Amino acid sequence: MTNSKNNQIFLSDNEKRDITKFLEANKPLPDKYRFLLFGDKNEVELVWNGKSNEVTNVVLPFQVIEQIDEPREGKEFGDGRGTLFDFSGKQVAGWTNKLIWGDNKLILSSLKNGPMRKEIEAQGGLKLIYIDPPFDVGADFSMDITIGDKEDGESFTKKPSVIEEVAFRDTWGNGVDSYVAMIYERLKLMHELLAENGSIYVHCGIQVNHYVRLAMEEIFGKNNLVSEIIWSYGTPSGGRASGTKLVKIHEYILHFAKNYDNRIENKIYLPYAEKYLKDWFKYTDENGRVYRQRIRGKSSDGKPIYERQYLDESPGEPASTVWKDIKQIYADPRAFKANQGDYSEILDYPTQKPESLIERIINASSNEGDLVADFFCGSGTTLAVAEKLGRKWIGSDLGKFGIHTSRKRMIGIQRELKKAGKDFRAFEILNVGRYERESFLDTNNDLRAEEKAKQAERKEKDFIKLILSAYKAEAVDSFVNVVGKKRDRLVAIGPINLPVSQKFIQEIVKELKEKNITKVDVLGFDYEMGLIFDEFVTQGMDIAFKIIPREVFDKRAVERGQVNFYDVAYIEAKPIVTGRGNMKELSIELADFSVFYNQDNGAVEEELKAGRSKVIIENGQVIKVTKDKDTELVSREVLTKKWSDWIDYWAVDYNFADRKEIIKVIENDKEKEVWTGDYIFDNEWQSFRTKKNRNLEFKSAPKELPKGDYKVAVKVVDIFGNDTTRVIDVKI
Ligand SMILES: C[S@@+](CC[C@H](N)C(=O)[O-])C[C@H]1O[C@@H](n2cnc3c(N)ncnc32)[C@H](O)[C@@H]1O
Repeated sequence: MTNSKNNQIFLSDNEKRDITKFLEANKPLPDKYRFLLFGDKNEVELVWNGKSNEVTNVVLPFQVIEQIDEPREGKEFGDGRGTLFDFSGKQVAGWTNKLIWGDNKLILSSLKNGPMRKEIEAQGGLKLIYIDPPFDVGADFSMDITIGDKEDGESFTKKPSVIEEVAFRDTWGNGVDSYVAMIYERLKLMHELLAENGSIYVHCGIQVNHYVRLAMEEIFGKNNLVSEIIWSYGTPSGGRASGTKLVKIHEYILHFAKNYDNRIENKIYLPYAEKYLKDWFKYTDENGRVYRQRIRGKSSDGKPIYERQYLDESPGEPASTVWKDIKQIYADPRAFKANQGDYSEILDYPTQKPESLIERIINASSNEGDLVADFFCGSGTTLAVAEKLGRKWIGSDLGKFGIHTSRKRMIGIQRELKKAGKDFRAFEILNVGRYERESFLDTNNDLRAEEKAKQAERKEKDFIKLILSAYKAEAVDSFVNVVGKKRDRLVAIGPINLPVSQKFIQEIVKELKEKNITKVDVLGFDYEMGLIFDEFVTQGMDIAFKIIPREVFDKRAVERGQVNFYDVAYIEAKPIVTGRGNMKELSIELADFSVFYNQDNGAVEEELKAGRSKVIIENGQVIKVTKDKDTELVSREVLTKKWSDWIDYWAVDYNFADRKEIIKVIENDKEKEVWTGDYIFDNEWQSFRTKKNRNLEFKSAPKELPKGDYKVAVKVVDIFGNDTTRVIDVKI
């Protein structure tokens, strides 16, 4: 008989022989030994291929690329409102909210183990996390984007970037195994980051709810499950009601506390249902106040004693674990509008959740001034609600488009709150990309890690070979940072799974300068946000930045030499200085912008049905392809008629060099502040399109500045969510 008790293994001689036999033959042990050999596991546990208790502890510095203090659309620079902002419009003290672009695994680990942890603790810790991770094998990174100045203008579907696709494969590549591994590690990090009285709400669908629940029970402890909430978001009608199957109209929200007994939980009341009001609150007193009768005991003669409960003193119906009063935004926006009455909240972000849903969660599990986070923030719903409810916040997303959507949304809310005379906070946008390349290549000492590193090296070599052949360049191996040569220009290639960082380019430039070489092309799938492309030109380099198109993965296109690498965007901006004397006014006019995107469209003309149209991106233009219903003739209409059609947002920092980027690093166990050599973009004025208002201004509001030499930074975010910054020298 075998048993495992008090951490001792009891195996029969037969079993011992059996195990030895398997091990000597280098064969995996049969499943039954799992429970016999390892510690006391009496409980049900979720196990998947590759399950490991190891959690990353990498710490990457956060790089601030933009700060938005007081948002401005007009001329009113710095009204010194409240106690938070000075007269130049900059927040003077306290916590700055954070919107972080990157993979949340690295973000969470850097928050947990790095110097920012102290800042979080100084705010009383992280009190609430809401996450809504992708839970369907749907296209989470595809977006519909409207073009031009009209609200109902044409739209096209932006496909995921290569970096987003890599993340998508990491999540779903091995089906549920990889999904659970992805979420498990992140939940562990979130658990460690939460305050002792904190809570987490995880939003998920029927596809993964059962796995996530088990993973959470393991990480947080069964006893810390507070509620399994069912969000019933719709009605069994319309398109979703077709077919014979029961109509699905719910999702789950799992609520766990770090410590059940110590958690923050405010009681939530909902308005009484109409029927309830009619059935119970049916009396009106002499002053016109509505009330219901409640029996409060019995008199000595056995008659019930009634007490009045007035409606205007009643808090409402206590919320239950089934939420039926909040409608879903997508599937049927009309239902959402009819129910919530607010269309302006809809941002065309495919998985956007309603603000009222998050409002309930934030009200229930945090108090004013608390810090709230959403590490899969998408369009920024949690952040928007947190700001409106006077909470501090941290948000992160892997998609640039998500970060950009959140940026516009938060500026919109800051503006609204400012107009209403209410408090709001500054926020900053951060990258965690700067050193990711190193962490990707840097692996451990143990054998498995060594093997992994070797594999990564092999893969990297194949990748470089592929890109060089698509770029029609030849390989060179006498450089550290440069891998190829095309005619008289050298070629450097950024990593496959990460954006090209400023540091990566600085290293290339340093090496080439030492060798007296000036001509180089840098190829990358994506570029870090806030990267200043023309910085290197002023250093005497002839450096071109190109985007690697996704067709490089199409073998036939490479063989046929049909892969076009396109240049990163170009901005032209003009300073306009007016006035006399020592103080003058400076405005910036946006004069030109160009991008040259391509998106693999497949065989559109053949696949298009008669009478249908499709919007595609080809050779730097957005084109509507239409097949005539009768003649089946195909026509093409260019939708991006003006350069400004590519622009979604632009912003100005009138004095770029006045805010240095300082980061905290830990050296010899001591925290140190160091200047990275870069500056932070102070977002002092901005104009952008929203779903409702598609107009852009092309001349910024004037700012008064004293005489001097200024570096003015102009940032443009295109309709894909990619940003380009140009710095111009202005003499005043
Ligand atoms: C379901 S959506 C969230 C929608 C959001 N609740 C809202 O209201 O807009 C999931 C988001 O997770 C992001 N995401 C997926 N994997 C990620 C990762 N590893 N790190 C950070 N964000 C990730 C996606 O870009 C997507 O925006």
